[in-house]
Amino acid sequence: MYVSEIFLHTNKNLKIYNHMRKNLNIAIVGATGLVGKKILQVLLERKISANFYLFASGDGRKIEIGEKTFQSLALSTTNFAHLHLDYAFFAVDAEISKKFAPKFVKNGAVVIDNSNAFRRKKSVPLVVPQVNPKALDASKRLIANPNCSTIQLVTALKPLHDKFKIKRVVVSTYQAVSGAGQNAIFDLLNGTQTKFDFPIQNNLIPQIDVFLPNGYTKEEDKLVFESKKILGLPRLHITATAVRVPIINCHSESVNVEFEKSATTQEVFETLKKAKNVVLQDDTQNKIYPMPLFANERDEVFVGRIRKDNSKKNCFNFWVVADNLRRGAASNAVDIFEKMEEIYEGKDI
Ligand SMILES: NC(=O)c1ccc[n+]([C@@H]2O[C@H](COP(=O)([O-])OP(=O)(O)OC[C@H]3O[C@@H](n4cnc5c(N)ncnc54)[C@H](OP(=O)(O)O)[C@@H]3O)[C@@H](O)[C@H]2O)c1
Repeated sequence: MYVSEIFLHTNKNLKIYNHMRKNLNIAIVGATGLVGKKILQVLLERKISANFYLFASGDGRKIEIGEKTFQSLALSTTNFAHLHLDYAFFAVDAEISKKFAPKFVKNGAVVIDNSNAFRRKKSVPLVVPQVNPKALDASKRLIANPNCSTIQLVTALKPLHDKFKIKRVVVSTYQAVSGAGQNAIFDLLNGTQTKFDFPIQNNLIPQIDVFLPNGYTKEEDKLVFESKKILGLPRLHITATAVRVPIINCHSESVNVEFEKSATTQEVFETLKKAKNVVLQDDTQNKIYPMPLFANERDEVFVGRIRKDNSKKNCFNFWVVADNLRRGAASNAVDIFEKMEEIYEGKDI
């Protein structure tokens, strides 16, 4: 075995990974959309050395990142097989992911999918690298990126669970229109109504995704299911209300959490202050608390307004804000890619 190479068994084949892999072949499917474009932006910011293949529904669409301009390729069943892809980020609707992601995997790519197509599958890891990195290993070829509102929630809950053991969570979301794609931003800015059932200008819509027979929406159901899966707490008591609000970007959440262990406000404060990827913004005297305006284009999860819930023992309220396109989608997807690279390099994660 060469020193610079690590041999890894995957499910289907024995693959050789070069220790310092340069010029990876990376596809982004849905590269003209909000999430796909942001993935490309984050990959470029992190100076990932790669050949990028950018797929959309048509050929030749312009994708502008800073001063660079890229062009899209039309996605078809025949035009990716020859590209020897190492990774494919999928940022398209679930139906397109379901059709194409398994084909990309069959062709040798590791697929990181942003849609909800595979998140519930037991065999597919659903990963926030700062929360459950151990769900990843070299055998995983299809990895699901969680829902945007779930990522910021579990990032704040995980350090609290490690310290105080979470018993119950009640979360209400205030979700930006960018969470529904680029047409939704157009609707907010222009007063049109192409994406939602009601105008979003001057309005709040207490429905995100379709209603289920139990009266909850699919978005609320995703938040509950995905939080349990990522935190590894299948019996967690958690309930959600998801609301669309008329701002362009960054989701906010009001969270009420009940712990098994007792905690002081100061201890909750200290725990979140030390947490990975979390920025504590909590100084009410000086009106410091998280807001979408200041979370925009940031990778961290902002937490504040921490206070004891005096109506119940061991309960606290807090407020969480994050950029849904970056932290809630693109940056998490690129974090997963970087973790997989570390695994292939033989690093302990
Ligand atoms: N927005 C968020 O905050 C967020 C967060 C987490 C996860 N997600 C998930 O990420 C996915 C993408 O969301 P988005 O907000 O980026 O949507 P979007 O802005 O509407 O972009 C959709 C993308 O899909 C492409 N597309 C449509 N039909 C296609 C086809 N037949 N073949 C190839 N590409 C096709 C579009 O390309 P054209 O330009 O050619 O039409 C565009 O690039 C969704 O599954 C969404 O649920 C979104």
